Amino acid sequence: MASLGKLSAGVAHQLNNPLGGITLYTKLMLEDYDLEDNAREDLYRILNDAQRCRDTVKELLEFSRQTRQFMRPLSINKAIERTLFLIENQTLFHNIQVKKKMAPFIPLVMADAQQMGHVFMNIIINAAQAMDGQGSITITTRESAAKDRVIIEIADTGPGISSDNLSHIFEPFFTTKQEGQGTGLGLSVVYGIVENHGGTIKARSVLGRGSTFTIELPITQETEKGAEHAEHA
Ligand SMILES: Nc1ncnc2c1ncn2[C@@H]1O[C@H](COP(=O)(O)OP(=O)(O)O)[C@@H](O)[C@H]1O
Ligand SMILES: [Mg+2]
Repeated sequence: MASLGKLSAGVAHQLNNPLGGITLYTKLMLEDYDLEDNAREDLYRILNDAQRCRDTVKELLEFSRQTRQFMRPLSINKAIERTLFLIENQTLFHNIQVKKKMAPFIPLVMADAQQMGHVFMNIIINAAQAMDGQGSITITTRESAAKDRVIIEIADTGPGISSDNLSHIFEPFFTTKQEGQGTGLGLSVVYGIVENHGGTIKARSVLGRGSTFTIELPITQETEKGAEHAEHA
């Protein structure tokens, strides 16, 4: 994962400058010349495709950024609430019911809040996309029986994932989405983040019945207060 991270950071940086050039000069041509409609259409096509490349570069950078972490004791329930707050107004979620089954008194985990948010966001958006914006997502949090881990389950009522695909979904660039719809990097980023946090992530699915992603993260003994003191120190 570490060398893959370096490779993707390298590729992303190499692509960023020429992409900037392509975008800039295309825009200049659109502004500076009195072009025929056909020519303009072609240039807009170039702009569009360049934008798609930039989206991929952005995800590659996200992918490589996994190693920089700011770890502090984190309430998983709060992190999930924050993610839900960010997505609730998106049209994709208007016809999706989000059911929360979160254990009220759940121990904290050591985590980078932003990266954990990224994890939940990716899984929830995948679920919404798989369900085509219709159905329900159930989010469960609880403590493991041995009281050493927090277990987070995100289940959807979508089409599910075939067993052939299930073995590949965490691989970088694996996507079943149409060109331009998905980069296939989302779940590989998620996987890397969870691993870096000493946790595990698994997916299970029954075709036609939906998919469930289960994340387990080790519990920390530290408190949120303690972390604040440590930050100020
Ligand atoms: N909740 C889900 N239901 C069905 N398929 C899913 C779900 N989440 C992920 N997948 C499958 O895993 C693939 C990889 O997901 P991801 O890494 O996020 O890339 P992307 O979303 O760009 O395709 C998706 O293309 C899809 O086939
Ligand atoms: Mg995705």
